[in-house]
Amino acid sequence: MSFGLPEPQGIEIRTPRLVLRPLTFADVPALFEAVDSSRSFLSRFLDWVDSVRGEADLRVFVDRCQRKEGEGEAHRGLFEPDGRLAGHMSVKDAVPSRKAAELGYWVREDRAGRGYATEAARALLAWSFRNLDLHRVTAFADTFNPASARVLEKCGFAREGVVRHRILHGDAWRDHAMFGLLAGELKL
Ligand SMILES: CC(C)(COP(=O)(O)OP(=O)(O)OC[C@H]1O[C@@H](n2cnc3c(N)ncnc32)[C@H](O)[C@@H]1OP(=O)(O)O)[C@@H](O)C(=O)NCCC(=O)NCCS
Repeated sequence: MSFGLPEPQGIEIRTPRLVLRPLTFADVPALFEAVDSSRSFLSRFLDWVDSVRGEADLRVFVDRCQRKEGEGEAHRGLFEPDGRLAGHMSVKDAVPSRKAAELGYWVREDRAGRGYATEAARALLAWSFRNLDLHRVTAFADTFNPASARVLEKCGFAREGVVRHRILHGDAWRDHAMFGLLAGELKL
């Protein structure tokens, strides 16, 4: 289903240091290795990491990303020029009637701190505003995750408030800062 939206053009996005492209099933072993080797780093702020127990779980993820790609969403692996998978980023949970979606991302631990998330977010957001008929992108960052908040601020997101107890992470409810970016506000 395409919700009447134009089909995205030029799915692969290139930035100075990264190639952003949809994952295929052939990427699943590399995706599992990236998640598995960064497990404690990622699971501090992402509630799905513990549920990834093997490649089968990630095949389900890749399948869902591929299906959503035609429904006003954008899901991309972040690849270095030599093909190594550095992370993943999505413009997801699209609500076409509101021209709205949500940004989510992670970078593997041994590739964090290099500016990759910001570089990829700027490129994917620019692509998404151009191709997905969006007016607003929302993003959430744990209130104890300053690196994620900084990525969003560098892209031009406004901090709009705090959503209390947004997710149950392990046995603790976590508060998330909510950020919003409207069409035309992206800082490149
Ligand atoms: C959050 C995450 C995606 C950032 O990726 P990254 O590629 O390292 O991000 P960038 O290098 O583009 O930018 C990080 C910014 O945060 C800053 N930063 C990092 N740690 C920080 C800290 N403890 N306090 C304040 N700022 C911090 C960096 O200095 C940089 O800002 P700068 O360019 O102004 O110096 C990555 O750390 C990650 O995947 N974390 C685990 C999963 C996660 O939190 N995902 C996001 C869920 S909302």
